[in-house]
Amino acid sequence: MIDAGFAPSWFQQQALLVPESVDLFLGGGRGGGKSVTLALLAMRHVEQYGGRARVLYVRRTYPGIADFELLTRELFGQAYESARYNSQAHTWRLPSGAIVELGQLDGPQDYAKYQGRSFTLLLLDEVTQWGDLRMVDLLRSNLRAPAGMPTRTVMAGNPGGLGHQAVARRFVFGREPWREFVDDVSRRPMVYAPSTARDNPVLDVEAYTRQLEAACSGDPELLKAWRDGSWHIARGAYFGDVLEESRSLVEAWERLPAVEPSADQLGPEARELARRAGPGDDWPAWSFYLSMDYGVAAPSVVYFCADSPGAYGPDGRFYPRGSLVLFDEFDTRASNDDLNRGTGLSIPEIAARVKALCAFWHMAPQGVADDAIFARLGLPDDASIASEFSRCGVYFERANKGDRFSGWGRLRTLMAQAGMPDRPGLYVSRRCTGFWATVPFLARDERRIEDVDTRGPDHWGDAARYACQRERQLLRMIHLPRVH
Ligand SMILES: Nc1ncnc2c1ncn2[C@@H]1O[C@H](COP(=O)(O)OP(=O)(O)OP(=O)(O)O)[C@@H](O)[C@H]1O
Ligand SMILES: [Mg+2]
Repeated sequence: MIDAGFAPSWFQQQALLVPESVDLFLGGGRGGGKSVTLALLAMRHVEQYGGRARVLYVRRTYPGIADFELLTRELFGQAYESARYNSQAHTWRLPSGAIVELGQLDGPQDYAKYQGRSFTLLLLDEVTQWGDLRMVDLLRSNLRAPAGMPTRTVMAGNPGGLGHQAVARRFVFGREPWREFVDDVSRRPMVYAPSTARDNPVLDVEAYTRQLEAACSGDPELLKAWRDGSWHIARGAYFGDVLEESRSLVEAWERLPAVEPSADQLGPEARELARRAGPGDDWPAWSFYLSMDYGVAAPSVVYFCADSPGAYGPDGRFYPRGSLVLFDEFDTRASNDDLNRGTGLSIPEIAARVKALCAFWHMAPQGVADDAIFARLGLPDDASIASEFSRCGVYFERANKGDRFSGWGRLRTLMAQAGMPDRPGLYVSRRCTGFWATVPFLARDERRIEDVDTRGPDHWGDAARYACQRERQLLRMIHLPRVH
């Protein structure tokens, strides 16, 4: 409870001393006084700029907004007699005419409500609850002020959330606390200001620590995050530390490369193999196949995959031997707002769409899929989903090399190696919108941190995992006519 004897803590004073021209990231353990700091910065801004001040405070969740509402009621209520809060619009109007608005934003899809509006100070609380920092960078475009008035972004967040890795990489790792650096994306000077509950003199730290221990029981990594403000934990987005758009995203291919590339299209390793190949040996060849995660209520996802022999792609880029390229995607998502819901398209309908795309790419409609589709359905003709697909001319084999964890491990390795000239990597086309909308943000399972949280839209992740669990030999044995 903030009372009349309120005084900022040491951490809050330091944060208030950082010049206004410098953005701030208040990143640390729970209870360090970050949210109060945001409220203090809002107060100082409205004091300084009066009626020109437009402050926007944003958080991902509604309960979070309610906390901040309470805090501002305590602070603003004491500071300004005639401050008025409109609880419908979540907006403070202060006597000077300054406005402080509290907003909830789930993610970039709801950004439209702020499009075109102007703010002078942006306060983003609990930034690690968003999967990445796109939200932050979008909102920044709303910073506009009359001449002579600075604009600023201040963020706060705990380690351990969904966006942990993205935030840590951009604002924490390699940054010295309280020392100015230039943010890579905004090109603005910035300061990382850490704190933990130990920096908050009003808290009974021992009691608070016990409370945190109870809240994190069985999850020592989260305890390290919340109690110690540690960013060096295995947390956040499952692929946050290995998948980077700048290394794995490739431009849309227009056509497939020749199955057997000419020698000048091969890299040194494959050219050497080709040179040594005797009669009857295989020339280094691309293989093209499908990888499917079939869903009933959830969307079905099919990737169009290429396995590189160590050659240049049709985009002129070199794909090291063994690299996996997801060059196209088909899915049955019901809408972009809920990527966990499918349209319920029938197997013949899915097969027809997949075959049409295979014909476009000049590849055979064959590939790998989830084990589950091979289960017999107990029907008189002994049918399975896989056999239904083959009846419709799309052929799947089990992607059964190893278990779920070795599959994730292989996918992570390919992601981590993307961009290395001599190691196989994972490359994903811009055409694969479902991949790019979901895989970078898949959360870790809170209980089994070596796994993905299956409550999220993991279908594009699963299909990518099957693609890299494919048994090469198995597919070689199926001989299907090439579609031309
Ligand atoms: N200077 C202060 N004077 C009095 N109370 C304070 C002060 N700073 C913070 N508090 C109180 O300490 C508690 C924790 O502060 P705050 O909510 O700002 O922490 P936080 O870092 O945002 O925590 P979390 O990580 O959980 O979001 C709150 O109850 C807040 O009212
Ligand atoms: Mg807070």
